Amino acid sequence: MCGIVGYVGQQAALPVVVEALRRMEYRGYDSAGVAILDGAGEVRVEKRAGKLANLEEALVADGGEAGFVGTTGIGHTRWATHGRPNDRNAHPHVSGDVAIVHNGIIENFAPLRAELESAGVELVSDTDSEVAAHLLTRAIESGGTAGDFVASCRAVLARLEGAFTLVFSHAKHPDVLVAARRSTPLVLGVGQGEMFLGSDVAAFIEHTRDAVELGQDNVVVMRADGYEVTDFDGEPTEGRPFRIDWDLEAAEKGGYDYFMLKEIAEQPQAVADTLLGKFQDGRIVLDEQRISDQELRDIDKVFIIACGSAYHSGLVAKYAIEHWTRLPCEVEIASEFRYRDPVLDRSTLVVAISQSGETADTLEAVRHAKSQKARVLAVCNTNGSQIPREADAVLYTHAGPEIGVASTKAYLAQITANYLVGLALAQARGTKFPDEVAAEFRQLERMPESIQQVVDSLEPVREIARELADSKSVLFLGRHVGYPTALEGALKLKELAYMHAEGFPAGELKHGPIALIEDDLPVFVVMPPVEGRGVLHSKLVSNIQEIKARGARTIVIAEESDEVVKPLSDYFIPIPPSTTLLQPLLATIPYQAFAAEVAAARGYDVDKPRNLAKSVTVE
Ligand code: M6R
Repeated sequence: MCGIVGYVGQQAALPVVVEALRRMEYRGYDSAGVAILDGAGEVRVEKRAGKLANLEEALVADGGEAGFVGTTGIGHTRWATHGRPNDRNAHPHVSGDVAIVHNGIIENFAPLRAELESAGVELVSDTDSEVAAHLLTRAIESGGTAGDFVASCRAVLARLEGAFTLVFSHAKHPDVLVAARRSTPLVLGVGQGEMFLGSDVAAFIEHTRDAVELGQDNVVVMRADGYEVTDFDGEPTEGRPFRIDWDLEAAEKGGYDYFMLKEIAEQPQAVADTLLGKFQDGRIVLDEQRISDQELRDIDKVFIIACGSAYHSGLVAKYAIEHWTRLPCEVEIASEFRYRDPVLDRSTLVVAISQSGETADTLEAVRHAKSQKARVLAVCNTNGSQIPREADAVLYTHAGPEIGVASTKAYLAQITANYLVGLALAQARGTKFPDEVAAEFRQLERMPESIQQVVDSLEPVREIARELADSKSVLFLGRHVGYPTALEGALKLKELAYMHAEGFPAGELKHGPIALIEDDLPVFVVMPPVEGRGVLHSKLVSNIQEIKARGARTIVIAEESDEVVKPLSDYFIPIPPSTTLLQPLLATIPYQAFAAEVAAARGYDVDKPRNLAKSVTVE
């Protein structure tokens, strides 16, 4: 939702903090701000609505580095929840000598705000966050142990409810930052004579590769020469030190115009890395397995919960899981799940899919499932995030950092991981022989090569996109796993190109949506692989004929050898052969490239579509 950064060290803090904000901007770009402590008892704050570039302009106008002297600083990029995205609501929030930045939601901010107002404190923003700054000032002023900056931070934390990462700074204590986290992320970077804070490691990987993951309800007090971690009561505890194996390059654009293009190109690697080490001694192995094989055998029903693209990956998985395990599998939008009182018990497996591991809708659905005693397995791309921490078992997708708001490589990695979950279940339950599991795994292992072929041949798709960039609406059709692929194609186009788009099961068209067809309306169709040719194939051919007869322009994604469909295609996009179940790993890619190119042709920011954030940590 928001990006948080902090620095205490020997270098000028401003450029370090601004550079870190650049890497955190994908988390929110409604506003950005910094606070730099000058070491002589003053704090200087600059904040601006809009993208980081606006803040940078303001900083230059105010003297740049010379105007913001100091070796301790904090920074924030905002995705607005409480209060409009404007300068006033931008972070840091200031109260006297105190400046704070916050990610998350302080759920009890209303009574706290009322308490502060009745004590005569003037709040200048509409945010939930500002109360934390004033509470800290009052705690320090009230003397006693609360006169101690660190103890006062703890006293404030004890009063807050909700999910938050907070970084507290105080002008009269310029050598120290205090930070805390509850249900939102915070990572510490440990340098030589300098320390860093970030919502994720991309904030500081150019400075250090030694990081510490902070646990739930942890407080870190950091100085240039070290740090200490405690719980909210001040009892010593430990974070989890780890070495960052992402290189800086991975967090930057690598020569592409925008991250999404780079991430589309990284898909063969993302799928290969997700498969790496997952088949050992003839068996599928998960990353963290806290569910026994006996418990997996006792499962009698599977629910998949997720949002957005992750939900579409779950829809794809349903076909494989039911086919391989003979277990009923329902796929649910996470934000709806717990509100309809689903039937869950010990023998239910809930698979929660999330790239970020922070999505509030999915996290709350996980918590509901656990409260009903269901087993929870997380499929996640972000090590140490909240959803895998609360799950009984985890399978990590190894897509690396995904910066573009539109999911691409994480989506393909999710489909891959979901299939591994299906195979692990089939293996534990004995619904597939070991050699069948091995054969399915080998097929998956061959996919990166085919994905590479698709990635290498996207230029014709981009040409089609430029030609159709002025369309008002686009439809996407498919059957079987081609249906969730259609939904994903439509989502990509909506979120990136702000264009009306809908995905349908092709057979449903004649029950209403066919009325939308008019002359020249672009309609994408994914044809099942030649291997699956039969009823499904011929039914789709009929659907294409129906829409062509009504004047639609057909854009068909099919195997090169699919001669039947070529004469019915106004545009033909060939993809390599595959099995039916694995085809979404190929057929989705032209949709990603199409949406990105239409967005670029319309002059939109491909990596940062309007109104969206990469991690949605509010319900
Ligand atoms: O981090 P998550 O996988 O939980 O995020 C779920 C959705 O918010 C996400 O997939 C979203 O739909 C993407 N922007 C789609 O491209």
